[in-house]
Amino acid sequence: MSINPQQKIWTERYKATGDDYLFGEKPNTYLARQSHLFHAGQRVLCVADGEGRNSVWLAKQGLSVTAVEISEVAVEKAKRLATKHEVVVDFQCADLLSDEWLDQHSAIQYDWVIGIFIQFADPKTREKLFFVMKHLTQLGGGLILQGYTPKQLEYKTGGPSVLENLYTEDLMRSLLKDWRIEELTEYQEVVSEGHGHHGLSALMGVIAYKTC
Ligand SMILES: C[S@@+](CC[C@H](N)C(=O)[O-])C[C@H]1O[C@@H](n2cnc3c(N)ncnc32)[C@H](O)[C@@H]1O
Repeated sequence: MSINPQQKIWTERYKATGDDYLFGEKPNTYLARQSHLFHAGQRVLCVADGEGRNSVWLAKQGLSVTAVEISEVAVEKAKRLATKHEVVVDFQCADLLSDEWLDQHSAIQYDWVIGIFIQFADPKTREKLFFVMKHLTQLGGGLILQGYTPKQLEYKTGGPSVLENLYTEDLMRSLLKDWRIEELTEYQEVVSEGHGHHGLSALMGVIAYKTC
C-alpha cells in the first residue's frame, strides 16, 4: 500500500511547532461566522482537520462531530485540545482519499461537511476530494469551504505556492455545478491563525447545499 506523501509533510510541520498549534487553537474565522447555520445534534464531518481547532469549536456548538486527518501527530494534538475544552469529537487518523476509508464511511451522511484550507490537493486529487465530500453530505445538507484565491501568491501569508491548487469562482462553480451555491465570496482580510496563516490574505468562502 503506498504512503500518501502529505502525511510526512504535515507531520513534520506539526512536530516542528511542538506544543504550539500551527494554525492556532481558535476556529477559522469564516467558519465561526457561520455559527447561526448550525443546530445542536447535527452531524458534521471535518475533513483534513489538522490539530482540531475547527472540530473542537464545532463540538462546542453542540454538534456531533467526526474529524478525519492523515497526520497522527496532528490528531494527538487535536485530542488534547478537545480534552482542554471538555468536548467529545470522533477523531479518525486516516487518509480520507483512500478506498478503505471511503468504503467504511460511504453509508454515513452528514448534515455538514467542512473543508477549511484543504488546498494540499492538486487538480486530480481535488476531483477525488470533492467527490468524497459531496458523497458524504446528505440531501439538503451543506458544504462549507475556506480557501485561498490566486492573489494569495502575491501575499505569501499562508497556503500553497502552486497556482493550480488555488480556488477561482469558475473552478468552484464547476466543482459544485449540481449544488445550490448559497454564498461564494472572494475577499481580502488580515488572518491571524498561529504561525501558519498570518497577514493580509486573499480568501474565498463557500457555502453550498446538496439538492439532488
Ligand atoms: C492546511 S492544513 C489545514 C488543517 C485544518 N483544516 C485547519 O484549518 O486548521 C491541511 C491538512 O490536510 C491534511 N491532509 C492532507 N491530505 C490528507 C488526506 N488525504 N486525508 C486526511 N487529511 C489530509 C494535512 O495533514 C493537514 O493537516
